[in-house]
Amino acid sequence: MSDLVAVIIPAGGSGERLGAQLPKALVQLAGRTLIEHAVANMAPVASQIIVAAPTGYEDHFKKLLGTEITVVTGGSTRTASVKAALEHVDKSNEYVLVHDAARSLASTELAARIIDSLRAGEKAVIPGMTVSDTIKKVDANNYVTKTLTRSKLRAIQTPQGFTRKVLIAAHKSSDEVTDDAGLVESNGIEVKVITGEERALKITTPGDLATANRLLIAEINTEIRVGIGTDAHAFSADPNRTLHLAGLHWLGEVGVDGHSDGDVAAHAICDALFAAAGLGDLGSNFGTADPKYAGATGSQLLSETFARVSEAGYAINNVSVQIVGNRPKIGLRRSEAIAALSAALNGAAVSVSATTTDGLGFTGEGKGLSAIATALLVRSAR
Ligand code: CTP
Ligand code: MG
Repeated sequence: MSDLVAVIIPAGGSGERLGAQLPKALVQLAGRTLIEHAVANMAPVASQIIVAAPTGYEDHFKKLLGTEITVVTGGSTRTASVKAALEHVDKSNEYVLVHDAARSLASTELAARIIDSLRAGEKAVIPGMTVSDTIKKVDANNYVTKTLTRSKLRAIQTPQGFTRKVLIAAHKSSDEVTDDAGLVESNGIEVKVITGEERALKITTPGDLATANRLLIAEINTEIRVGIGTDAHAFSADPNRTLHLAGLHWLGEVGVDGHSDGDVAAHAICDALFAAAGLGDLGSNFGTADPKYAGATGSQLLSETFARVSEAGYAINNVSVQIVGNRPKIGLRRSEAIAALSAALNGAAVSVSATTTDGLGFTGEGKGLSAIATALLVRSAR
């Protein structure tokens, strides 16, 4: 028996209460339209997605959503839009979820829990939230006719899941309802409520859009990490050794001793990046024992470091390096140095500064060069 799932997303409304110039499903939330959010959240569990677009916007929706998504013309009510989409559900799907473009942030996880419950034998499964307000029924003149028992109430969300047969049978009715479970209930089918989620809120008013935006931002859990690195090399006694520093070749300057090209600025940045990412240091990553890195330039090591840090999920916010020594004069080639280091780090923001040490220490005595670097990394995980 097939257990594939089709998802219907009615998006045919105009969004009058939201008051935008465009149909609500085309309004942007954090850089993507509401319908794109809804489709992206449902796609992982769906074998087929059918979107009901507002009349006249079919091509716009097709372009936006791509060829994998079936776009149909919506009706004049939500129920009519669902009916139009239901006709296109492929028979290979055992289950159908009926969603709302307006509940754009409902999660894949919520959809998966509904499907689990259907696969466990339920015929109709809907998400619901307990209510915190007391709810009363009123008459036409706003006099209370009844106070409902709050603990027995649930505020119902979408996606709502059904076996395809149950949903088709329910839609034979010509009743207009605000949710599909309403039709299924009228057919005497038991409808199971499972726990919904805050992010499945229905975006109706501009305030709801602001709430959705806040939820989205709060969920992007950003981790910020700083790292520090230093390196030092002695100037070489060999006058033919050339200087490589900050990703540049310094003609006429005597180089430094060392197993690599001795680019203290590049090495300090590598260490700072590894430290920030918690990935060890230059030595533990590119040990002198590994022939692969023998003779690697500072820029090559930076590029490899960038790859490892990216692989661990981090993006560079910025890198800052200070070169300590009497020569060469960095200021004259600062922008070139920044460009070279940045290029090795895939365009990351880099600052380069330099200082002498007032004649003190090995750098002040002109015996060598050192560099100190910091790196700020950001990792975003949903
Ligand atoms: N819907 C639909 N076809 C309609 C009316 C509504 O497909 N003729 C969809 C909406 O696009 C939305 C969902 O049903 O995804 C829930 O409707 P609602 O939130 O009321 O959206 P709108 O009708 O667009 O908004 P409004 O009532 O403020 O105009
Ligand atoms: Mg409406």
